[in-house]
Parts: sequence; C-alpha cells; structure tokens
Amino acid sequence: MKLVGFLTLLVFTGFAQAADVEPIKNAGPYVPSPQSVVADMLRYAEVGPNDFLIDLGSGDGRIVLTAAKLFGTRGFGVEIKENLVRRANEAAHKEGLADRVKFVKQDLFKTDISKATVITMYLLPDTVNLLKDKFLSELRPGTRIVSHDYPLTGWIPEKYVQMDLEDKIQISGVTTTLIYLYVVPAKVAGHWSAQMPPAVSRQPATLRLRQQLTRVSGSVVLDGEEVPLEDVRLRGDRLSFKLAGRKGEFTGQVKGSSIEGTLDAGGTKTPWSAALSG
Ligand SMILES: C[S@@+](CC[C@H](N)C(=O)[O-])C[C@H]1O[C@@H](n2cnc3c(N)ncnc32)[C@H](O)[C@@H]1O
Repeated sequence: MKLVGFLTLLVFTGFAQAADVEPIKNAGPYVPSPQSVVADMLRYAEVGPNDFLIDLGSGDGRIVLTAAKLFGTRGFGVEIKENLVRRANEAAHKEGLADRVKFVKQDLFKTDISKATVITMYLLPDTVNLLKDKFLSELRPGTRIVSHDYPLTGWIPEKYVQMDLEDKIQISGVTTTLIYLYVVPAKVAGHWSAQMPPAVSRQPATLRLRQQLTRVSGSVVLDGEEVPLEDVRLRGDRLSFKLAGRKGEFTGQVKGSSIEGTLDAGGTKTPWSAALSG
C-alpha cells in the first residue's frame, strides 16, 4: 500500500475509533454498603442457591461474595475500577468461592444482565432510573431488583424498608438507610382471546388489559357485556383478578403470549386460558 493510502487509512480508522469510544458514565463513587445492609438486601430478595445474582457496580464484591458464602448463590459483579475487580476476585479465590462467582471490569450500562434472577445495586439516584428501561427489556418476569437507598421512580416496590444505621453517617452524613425490592412484571398489556370456565361463559371472551409497570387494570367482554376487573395483581408472571359483581378469583401464569390458570370459586377450581390477540 502506498504511504498516502496507508496514512488515509490510519486517519479514517482513528476517526472511527474516536467516534465509537463513548466515555463510561460514572454511576457512583466507591462507597461499600455496610455489611448489615448487604445481609438485609439478600434477605429481602430471598436469595437462594438457585439464584444468579448480578451486582451492578460491585465495589469490593461484598454483595456477590456474601450471597455465595451464605446461600450458595452463583453470579458476578461488574465494576469499572480495576483494583476493586482484582480485590474481589482475590477474595473469591481466598474464600473458595471462585467456582460460583467472578468479577469483571466492565461498564454496567453495557453488561448483559439477562441471566440474572436477582439484581443488586447501590448507585446514584439518576443512574438507578437510567437503568429502568434496561431492566424491563432484558430481565425475565419475576427477577428481583434490590436497590440500596435509591428508588426506581414510578415503580411500586414489592417491599420498602427504612432504618437508621450509625454506619451510614460517614457515607451519606445521615443515619437513614433505605432498601427497595422490585419484581420485574410480565408484559400483559393488550387484548387477549380468553377461554373462560363454562360457568362464566361458553363463548370466547376478550380480556382487555392496560398496564403501567406492576399496575394493571382492565375488563373482560363476556357474551357482549363488558365486565370490569377488580383486585388485579401482577407479581412477576403471576396474574390474579376478580370480575366485578361475580364470585371467585382468577389466577394465572403469563408465559409470553399465553396465560394459563384457574378460577377458584368457593373451593372449586376450573381452568381458564388466554392468548394474546393484539
Ligand atoms: C456505591 S459503590 C457500591 C459497591 C457495592 N455494590 C456495595 O454495595 O458495596 C458503586 C460502585 O459502582 C462503580 N461504578 C460506577 N460507575 C460504573 C459503571 N459505569 N460500570 C461499572 N461500575 C461502576 C463504582 O466504581 C463503585 O465501586
């Protein structure tokens, strides 16, 4: 290649690389969660041996390491500071946990989190909220998200605990400590073609659901009559509701574009199902 061509190539690849490289957003300084808060976060999320936990901004690795040590949980932590990643991996080896957990130097915003059953984080409030769309698009329904101190705005937590801890004075200047637990909801908004128990309707019915995160409302069209839904609850992939003015509770499991469940009316359980139609 001629020198001019070579230089042109260098200039162009240089520009391309410069354009590709976005600065990593600093999601928060290194401030470790007090060990008692770590224990509470894991307890509220009911972390167990079958869970896969990802800590976003893992610091010295204490959340992932504690989960592995106490509950046999597998998982990983992502962290931008190389020395913290090294320290956490060394601790994993030293404590005999390296077969279950690891730590990687990686930007949390670009991390594939789809394998997680539990997400933990102690990050700045604006970062926590920047992650909301990522959580909803990448995480499976039922995945638990535990946030130390900062909430996901507009998302009703499953649990919310406030306590006073002396340890927090040196971190945030106040004793107030908050832990929020969220559960990723299934996507249920839309029209569903439902096969109701014969006692409710022998005709296919239309279930119309509206959704804002975990808040669901709607109605069912039964034999041409629109009946509002009451007491609608959605926790992960579990949906339940009642029909206004009628006895019994519908429960069901959402599996992508279908729902299968039972109507429990006075102790008698009959199956119902629905398929997403639009
Ligand atoms: C408040 S500390 C929390 C540490 C640990 N999760 C805990 O609760 O003890 C936040 C950590 O996130 C890391 N961090 C900040 N921005 C990040 C990013 N974009 N990707 C990965 N880690 C990041 C920081 O270096 C810091 O160690």
